[in-house]
Amino acid sequence: MKVVIAGFGTVGQGIAEVIGMRQELFSKSFRQKVRIVGAFDSSTFVKDAKGLDPGELVARKAATGGVGAKSQEGKIREFIEEYDFDTLIETTPTNILDAEPGYTYIMAALNAGKNVVTSNKGPLALKFRELSRAAERNKVQLRYEASVGGAMPVINLSRELLRGEHIYSLRGILNGTCNFILNRMKDEGLPFDQALREAQEMGIAERDPSYDIDGVDSACKLAILANAIFNMDVTYHDILRTGIRSITEDAIALAAEQKKVVRLIGEINDKRLEVSPRMVPMGHPLAIGGTLNIVQLITDLAGEITVVGRGAGRRETASALLSDLLAILSDDHAKGR
Ligand SMILES: NC(=O)c1ccc[n+]([C@@H]2O[C@H](COP(=O)([O-])OP(=O)(O)OC[C@H]3O[C@@H](n4cnc5c(N)ncnc54)[C@H](OP(=O)(O)O)[C@@H]3O)[C@@H](O)[C@H]2O)c1
Repeated sequence: MKVVIAGFGTVGQGIAEVIGMRQELFSKSFRQKVRIVGAFDSSTFVKDAKGLDPGELVARKAATGGVGAKSQEGKIREFIEEYDFDTLIETTPTNILDAEPGYTYIMAALNAGKNVVTSNKGPLALKFRELSRAAERNKVQLRYEASVGGAMPVINLSRELLRGEHIYSLRGILNGTCNFILNRMKDEGLPFDQALREAQEMGIAERDPSYDIDGVDSACKLAILANAIFNMDVTYHDILRTGIRSITEDAIALAAEQKKVVRLIGEINDKRLEVSPRMVPMGHPLAIGGTLNIVQLITDLAGEITVVGRGAGRRETASALLSDLLAILSDDHAKGR
């Protein structure tokens, strides 16, 4: 399989390394190599039909800030359409205003008959239907396990292993930064601003933390889950959203008196499509601490299923992208391609 990596930051570099690490698995299971035949970031570009060395690519990015030569303005889309490769691994930044540049790259690949594996929430949270239809129309795969909860494999689990279940509802914690802040407020009695500052100092929260603490990130992920698992037709704008900015130490202390904790919960059922702070009994799986992500599904046959995992990280997110690449390789293998 020939892949091109779009975006070569934390996640793009992570998947390049993991592709290098798993060549034996690709050869043993599918009798083929996965070759990185191209990569680009915001301003540079490299291609080699024979395959690029992942280690060299990552080293070049670290040493020069780019992956190769300067890319020509407006030429990337043409490159995606015309260059000979099978799968685009799309890891450009999430943009919740217009989904770009990811939307253009993904659409160009799908319409050119190429599979897409992405970690980018923006295009999926805003234009899920358009993208899924383009994939169907062009008989290629669009896979996005990494877009929700990094290494918490809830999408493929629900769509593939639990295909025979009726999934009634889903609840979960989809943002590790909020969970960390709420937990620090409870454990240390810190006011919100101080817990946020601590998270920023530790690199857990961004300098502009609004995307996390106002529930935007969780709402994007919930919209993707609603579309992918519950076959809804929603965007991020359809999610009722309240963040954690106005949670006070008093509210946290009051919850503790009742043996409860406050958590930012995303919920999908036949009445709710909502991200909001909720009280959860201590000891309940959703009272989980740290920066972990967790999702609980309620199904008709299996009952309750809980998945916990790391929501972010270079290798963790690459793990989810790898699972999608393997699914495409398995499908091709089964069809004798
Ligand atoms: N980090 C995680 O743990 C994690 C987990 C789950 C999902 N995600 C999602 O995965 C995606 C990538 O995250 P990340 O952490 O790897 O971000 P990142 O480190 O900021 O990397 C983004 C990459 O995209 C490139 N880029 C920016 N604009 C571009 C453009 N117009 N055309 C081509 N490339 C462009 C950047 O180029 P330069 O290098 O030139 O700046 C950079 O290489 C995001 O959508 C994020 O939400 C991340």
